[in-house]
Amino acid sequence: MNPAKRRTVIAGNWKMNMTPAEAAALVRETAPLVAGKDNCDIIFCAPYVDIAAAQEAAKGTNIKIGAENVHFAEAGAYTGEISAKMLGACGVDYVIVGHSERRQYFGETDETVNLRTKAAIAAGMTVILCLGEVKEQRLAGITDEVVAMQTKLDLAGISAEELKQVIIAYEPVWAIGTGLTATPEQAEETCAVIRATLAKLYGEEVAETVTIQYGGSMNDKNAAELLAKPNVDGGLIGGASLKAAAFAAIVDAAQ
Ligand code: PGA
Repeated sequence: MNPAKRRTVIAGNWKMNMTPAEAAALVRETAPLVAGKDNCDIIFCAPYVDIAAAQEAAKGTNIKIGAENVHFAEAGAYTGEISAKMLGACGVDYVIVGHSERRQYFGETDETVNLRTKAAIAAGMTVILCLGEVKEQRLAGITDEVVAMQTKLDLAGISAEELKQVIIAYEPVWAIGTGLTATPEQAEETCAVIRATLAKLYGEEVAETVTIQYGGSMNDKNAAELLAKPNVDGGLIGGASLKAAAFAAIVDAAQ
């Protein structure tokens, strides 16, 4: 974290979990635990069907509700998809794009991730743009090249002004949902590579303002040492965001 230069963001990614009633209950349980913890932005990214219930429960709290994906087209024959305009109309200000599960299981590519990112930005939302290497790439020693390439492709055509609406989540795919966390040193090193890539694209000054989260088995036990690293500006949290106490402890670690 480097709060002097950029905002710390702690975001939960509920994935395909929670009914609307469960979502509302989790928000209500979490809210008092994170009240007044204003040194970071606190977001729950929820399944589409849970957004309204979660928003209602989050009213008057410092918890914001986001979505987990968005389509790039304005409207049309894309069965099962949701547009940025639709999300905007539902009062959604944050959306995850390019999560590795979308890339792995639903065929998303850097090209579609880039298009989705642009659509969300144009609709006024802030994007949590996920990228990261798979295990084979880390073992082959090409992590730096992979994340640099993803950063460039996913942000192609996005201006420095538009980049203000982008948070990057560095998520090593081998660490997601596996209980294997990147060491603080690995997280720091790779977040620094992403920032150096941003500096090449947008200049040093702009790169210093971009929030770069770490994600991948972050929990109440390991959050503090990950967040202590100067280039790790928050977390994108899956499993541990489904438990109020664990998520609140991560928010505490960010204070
Ligand atoms: P995890 O998920 O915390 O359960 O590893 C992180 C993510 O997928 O964003």
